[in-house]
Amino acid sequence: MQAATATDPRAAAPLVRASEVSGRLRRDGFCILRGALPTPVLDEALAAYDRHLLAYTGSLKRQSQRRERHRIGPSGGLVNALVDLHREGCPPIEPFRRAVLGVVGHHGIAERLRCHFGGPARAVSLHWLDESKNGPHQDQAYEDSVPPGQLVGLLVPMWDAVGPAHNRFFVVPGSADALVPHDAESLRSGDYIRDVYAAVADRHDGRLTPLDLARGDAVLFSSRMIHGTILGTSGRLPRIAAHFLPEDAVYRGFGFTRPIAVREYGLPLTGAV
Ligand SMILES: [Fe+2]
Repeated sequence: MQAATATDPRAAAPLVRASEVSGRLRRDGFCILRGALPTPVLDEALAAYDRHLLAYTGSLKRQSQRRERHRIGPSGGLVNALVDLHREGCPPIEPFRRAVLGVVGHHGIAERLRCHFGGPARAVSLHWLDESKNGPHQDQAYEDSVPPGQLVGLLVPMWDAVGPAHNRFFVVPGSADALVPHDAESLRSGDYIRDVYAAVADRHDGRLTPLDLARGDAVLFSSRMIHGTILGTSGRLPRIAAHFLPEDAVYRGFGFTRPIAVREYGLPLTGAV
């Protein structure tokens, strides 16, 4: 895979207007929200990460029913992704979970989701990652609305994620047009990720396009766009990955036995304003 030219957050445009988000998601599959989040909101989440999550010695869910203790990498970050903050009811990390909800519910994000959906959004999954990567994938293979197509993803880096030192979020522009075939077994075995790499090579010239994101930036993206994370030399990037649906939608979650109403399952966005 070759890395395509990155965007330059130093040439930052003003924060995209809420009314423009839907058009950008349709046209590009993603929409960068430059400067959507103020420093104090990110500081609080990072401080809570150190104080409450990294310090926690018990086991936690990691996007599955399996619970694991932390594995800390050589750079001092959490390695075993993804900490499931949506389904984890763990009192010692509750202050950290609240701080993360303060980030995703901040009006810089919540207002844009509300405008895109035409009503209030709820978070249907909420994860925290640091010293780990994600291979290219389409979220729609794992989770979406019923019927499919409404899910919107969010990536928030806690640090500047610029250049090859950091783990960086990448996109494959134009990839939202076709779903890579999958089933429960290929998702479980990892064959699905191999097939997505092959699809990117066949249809998109192998181009994974890393986005340079400054602290305070966020990215909204379509559930059909191929995306993931490239490892940088530092190995680290504390970050939030979340997914949203409108309140009146129905959610199909990864590993769920049945769809569930978003109003019943989703977390309301009531972050700092
Ligand atoms: Fe994803």
